[in-house]
Amino acid sequence: LGASPAAGSLTGKHILVTAGPTHEPIDPVRYIANRSSGRQGFAIAAALARVGARVTLVAGPVALPTPAGVDRVDVDTAQDMANAVATALPADAAVMVAAVADWRVEAAPQKMKRGDVPPTLQFAENPDILATLARSPRRPRLLVGFAAETEQVVEHATAKRTRKGVDWIVANDVSGDVFGGDANTVHLVTATGSEAWERLPKDAVAARLADRIADALGSDQ
Ligand code: CTP
Ligand code: CA
Repeated sequence: LGASPAAGSLTGKHILVTAGPTHEPIDPVRYIANRSSGRQGFAIAAALARVGARVTLVAGPVALPTPAGVDRVDVDTAQDMANAVATALPADAAVMVAAVADWRVEAAPQKMKRGDVPPTLQFAENPDILATLARSPRRPRLLVGFAAETEQVVEHATAKRTRKGVDWIVANDVSGDVFGGDANTVHLVTATGSEAWERLPKDAVAARLADRIADALGSDQ
């Protein structure tokens, strides 16, 4: 009888995490971004590594150090992130924390110059990395999405869980001051309903989620 990993451990499991914003270029010197700091996603990658997982962290542009024991792949755009996610497969679980830009711009090849009329930006839809992964033959066994919502948090997250075909949604109430902050107020939405977690430091949200992932991957193999 050999070394079976301890209960609550993720030893031998590969987990993919996305984190941070994406940058969508407008021209060679300008881009569209969002207010994601990457801190919650980096904390989750760190927590998963701490309980033994092999973690691939696909990170948008953030100013954060790489957590101990985590393999990091840096990307800029949503399309780069989609490619990096595909390259990192297969994975036992994926936790998609990144604030992926929903749209990209047809970028100008040269710096746009000031003129008589302000420019108009033409948007195109970016790939939905999470929904694509959910429909893929290489879908990880446990797929976790995040949803930042400013109102009707649980309702929107519940709808998103079904629409995207994912197992869990961590619904993040961003009506307060969460971007770049230390704490997070989340609900865990699963097939059986939703759990409200008390307001917690991002590290504590990460540790609790890592424990839940270890339970889920341990209980159905
Ligand atoms: N996501 C993704 N690719 C995208 C957009 C979102 O992988 N192009 C993932 C995010 O990483 C997150 C989840 O989908 O895990 C939900 O993101 P969210 O922006 O809340 O969902 P959207 O479907 O874009 O809905 P909304 O209109 O509310 O922005
Ligand atoms: Ca979105």
